Amino acid sequence: MVSRFIAVDPFDLVVFGGTGDLAYRKLYPGLFHRDGDGQLPESSRIIAVSRRDQSQDAFRSSVADALKDHVDDAHTRQEGIKAFLDKLHFVRADASADAGWDDLKTFLDTDSNPVRAFYLAVAPNLFGPICQRIGSMAMDTDATRVVIEKPIGHDGDSARTTNAAIGQVFSEDRVFRIDHYLGKETVQNLMALRFANALFEPLWNSAHIDHVQITVAESLGVGSRGPYYDTAGALRDMVQNHILQLLCLVAMEPPAAFNANAVRDEKLKILRALRPIDESNASLVTVRGQYQAGASQGGAVPAYVDEIGPASSMTETFVALKAEVENWRWAGVPFYLRTGKRLATRTSDLVVHFKAIPHSIFGSSAGEITSNKLIIRLQPNEGVELSIMIKDPGPGGMRLRKVPLDMAFQDAFNVRSPDAYERLLMDVLRGNPTLFMRRDEVDAAWDWIDPILDAWERTGQKVNGYRAGTWGPSASIALIERDGRTWHEDVL
Ligand code: BG6
Repeated sequence: MVSRFIAVDPFDLVVFGGTGDLAYRKLYPGLFHRDGDGQLPESSRIIAVSRRDQSQDAFRSSVADALKDHVDDAHTRQEGIKAFLDKLHFVRADASADAGWDDLKTFLDTDSNPVRAFYLAVAPNLFGPICQRIGSMAMDTDATRVVIEKPIGHDGDSARTTNAAIGQVFSEDRVFRIDHYLGKETVQNLMALRFANALFEPLWNSAHIDHVQITVAESLGVGSRGPYYDTAGALRDMVQNHILQLLCLVAMEPPAAFNANAVRDEKLKILRALRPIDESNASLVTVRGQYQAGASQGGAVPAYVDEIGPASSMTETFVALKAEVENWRWAGVPFYLRTGKRLATRTSDLVVHFKAIPHSIFGSSAGEITSNKLIIRLQPNEGVELSIMIKDPGPGGMRLRKVPLDMAFQDAFNVRSPDAYERLLMDVLRGNPTLFMRRDEVDAAWDWIDPILDAWERTGQKVNGYRAGTWGPSASIALIERDGRTWHEDVL
């Protein structure tokens, strides 16, 4: 089947933080791809806003450089780059002060396009002030949307304050809170797999599923993001948003329709059904870790504390948790979650472990019968794999063997796998918030996370060291092995 490219309506996309890392690495390359696919109408304008003192030409040439760095085949697409750069504009303005806002307004008012979106790729403390100014200067039209990036708050209270400030200007249906994991192809495929196939849903419950594992492992360290990361840690940075969103998509009831409120209502019910983790059980069901010096990708790498500076730190770069969803479908089925930096490899997957067969008719000579597993590989090598038992081919009697039914999307479809931001940017421009977080979801996620953070602080729960390039602290292996189970890659 061939991909279909449906053009969006002509738009003005204003990017605050328009000369920042996210814009150069993700937003402009994503928009460039979609421009090449013919989805961006000619009159559309992408307006970078930044305090930087630079000319329009200098800005365009910096984007051209970024495209060469971040788009594989950029060197063969000179014409396309030129057409894309023509859509780019630069306005110098200060997001936190008066300077430049009149120029921005004048620019938008001359020749404005029907759809207007403000993308706030800036520090979260600026979300409220920028929205207030957009409102007070009457820069929002009926078709105006605002896009914000995580972190939304540092805890539930600060998230509520931020969301309230945004809400004074933008109604909820015009606020697009990005969780880029929801834009990943395989994450969307999870919904296709569950709700477009009759095969899985009847088995998708505690009668047939033993447990679920979600792993988001990174091989990189914190790099230059130390100042932010040290105030956040893995629980806030990855679990509060990406991992809980994945858990919701696995666990939610079938929504009545694939639309924004139906899907988000179901996710919300899962977040609200999570069994609380607090001082009474945190030490049993959570593990914190921090990487020490080790080896990664063939070279020696420093410890976290040496990367962030000469300081000691209790910030976790690894977390493993045993979560439970307290409802009829999932009672008694643990969801083991883990994420960390500087782990053995970069891999993210979601593994559904089915229950063992109730009785084997084959004797011991047939070998071990392992339970079925459905593995959804988010990255790299996106795909879906189902492990099943078969008879070993050929003579030798009935000997059993585990084999994967494996579909790698790249091999199956031979199309470029789009970056998550591409899809999400197009959804913003179309006004479709299905793959974005609603305000009550953010609140509910913090309501579950806050007591864990409190418990860690009050009890001083240990941050276990782990060697960079390994699978994290041994306590995380103990966490799952205590229940008689093992992490997925340990049994490969
Ligand atoms: C971001 C986190 O949201 O997601 C980063 O802030 C993390 O710390 C990143 O590295 C991971 O995203 P991806 O798409 O590379 O898995």
